[in-house]
Amino acid sequence: MARIFITGSSDGLGLMAARLLAGDGHQVTLHARNDARAADARRLLPSAEAVVVGDLSNVAETRSVAAQVNALGSYHAVIHNVGVGYREPRRIETADGLSHIFAINVLAPYLLTALITPPERLVYLSSGLHTGGTASLDDLQWTTRRWNGTQAYADSKLLDVVLAFAVARRWPRVLSNALEPGWVATKMGGPGAPDDLSLAPVTQAWLAVSDDPAARVTGQYFYHQRRHRVHAAARRTDLQDGLLAYCAELTATALP
Ligand SMILES: NC(=O)c1ccc[n+]([C@@H]2O[C@H](COP(=O)([O-])OP(=O)(O)OC[C@H]3O[C@@H](n4cnc5c(N)ncnc54)[C@H](OP(=O)(O)O)[C@@H]3O)[C@@H](O)[C@H]2O)c1
Repeated sequence: MARIFITGSSDGLGLMAARLLAGDGHQVTLHARNDARAADARRLLPSAEAVVVGDLSNVAETRSVAAQVNALGSYHAVIHNVGVGYREPRRIETADGLSHIFAINVLAPYLLTALITPPERLVYLSSGLHTGGTASLDDLQWTTRRWNGTQAYADSKLLDVVLAFAVARRWPRVLSNALEPGWVATKMGGPGAPDDLSLAPVTQAWLAVSDDPAARVTGQYFYHQRRHRVHAAARRTDLQDGLLAYCAELTATALP
């Protein structure tokens, strides 16, 4: 039995992965943005070991989430699932003055990775759209570019893979991988999404706990439990180091 923490697990793929893992006898800690959503999460998965609370668009609340997780003990795996989608019609600025999509999709996984006691396995949710991401660290806050929500999302999902591969390189004893779940009908995916929803939470749960040698790898990218094509830029060490340095500067917290 493993202990797993899943971000953004009051709904969607995070909750579905939590259900799969809890159904297999693992101890799952959920995460919700506020107390009301935490109560929803508890009701939706009463067997969850705990629910931690914090808005991951906010750096201070993200630090609090990490502290809550560390106070609960050590974890076998963390699934960095939280995400917001490609439908933001305008640039939304967070309380910290950051792009909302960047703050939630990239900076929160970075900061939680840096602050949570390192688990044995880390899993990062990307998207097939990452292949259209811009392989650059210029204007990550969208202050000079004209806003394009789809591009901002694709960029963030490429950076999730860059982060996963950077951590795999920096922390050789931790298995750190990324995946795409398919385009599925969650709140984010929308009701017309074409892919199989039942398969969408499987790979992240498998990467988190399976003893299958295919899951016990690091620095890889998956779709439906198979290695999958990944943007070549995700393996660029200059991009990996640049992203870590940029996030460290923004949060005043370096990856240990
Ligand atoms: N669905 C797809 O087709 C698809 C495709 C490719 C990749 N993905 C990736 O899969 C992951 C999960 O997506 P999903 O489809 O399950 O999305 P979802 O149904 O919209 O669920 C997102 C979860 O994240 C939580 N969340 C969002 N913003 C938050 C914040 N600021 N603070 C704390 N929690 C927050 C949501 O909480 P609330 O319920 O309170 O809003 C919800 O629990 C994302 O990383 C996404 O990029 C999804």
